[in-house]
Amino acid sequence: RRLCESPDTRQPLAYLRLRRAIRTVVEHRDIEPGQALPSERDLSHALGLSRVTVRKAIAGLVEEGLLTQRHGAGTFVAERIVKPMSRLTSFTEDLRARGLNPRSEFFERGIGEVTPEEAMAMNLSPGAAVVRLHRVRYAGDEPLAIERSVVPASVLPDPMAVRDSLYEALEQRNARPRRALQRLRAVSLSAQHARLLHVATGSAGLSIERRSFLDDGRVVEFTSSWYRGDIYDFVAELHTD
Ligand code: GLP
Repeated sequence: RRLCESPDTRQPLAYLRLRRAIRTVVEHRDIEPGQALPSERDLSHALGLSRVTVRKAIAGLVEEGLLTQRHGAGTFVAERIVKPMSRLTSFTEDLRARGLNPRSEFFERGIGEVTPEEAMAMNLSPGAAVVRLHRVRYAGDEPLAIERSVVPASVLPDPMAVRDSLYEALEQRNARPRRALQRLRAVSLSAQHARLLHVATGSAGLSIERRSFLDDGRVVEFTSSWYRGDIYDFVAELHTD
């Protein structure tokens, strides 16, 4: 019903408008993860759109990871969190796009001295001041990831400026990263990490290391994360040369 009432879909329809309307419905949790979308035929009928337009809108959202399709069964709001690897987004943005409520619990949020390894990875001089964050990242009450971030204090002098989202704090200082290098590795979660993530010791996890850069080449963050393997899919689009 919400799709039909959306002002976006009442206008002459481009598939992009429908795509935006479906995204809003998912963000607002009018259709929950795991639930089915109306069929292509019902959507095209109810909205007065061609099947081609509906199909194109849905295909785009399947590619984005917001929807999944099961052969013969229809289209569903994705249950796992599908994260496109080619876009430099934040945990907070990824969750909000799925209608989830991102939260952080901090174990550490302060200033310290860079370690020799960090200095090397971040191209900082020995002894430089850095902000350190150590957090468990939640969707509502469900823990999804553990993250340890190091940010040069020259970029972000006040650790308390990070309320929930690091990227929001960086954005406010005009230091949102523009490029990142990321490494993914399969791990089995240690007892300590598993406890924080509410899964059994030894469960599958993804260890992710991200170094993000500003336009001028300065490193803005060096983050090590442990994501739950039972929830996350990382997908990438591949091209030949
Ligand atoms: C992801 C990345 C981290 C990044 C974080 C920022 O989780 N793996 O490298 O620091 O997003 O998210 P937020 O802005 O929600 O703190």
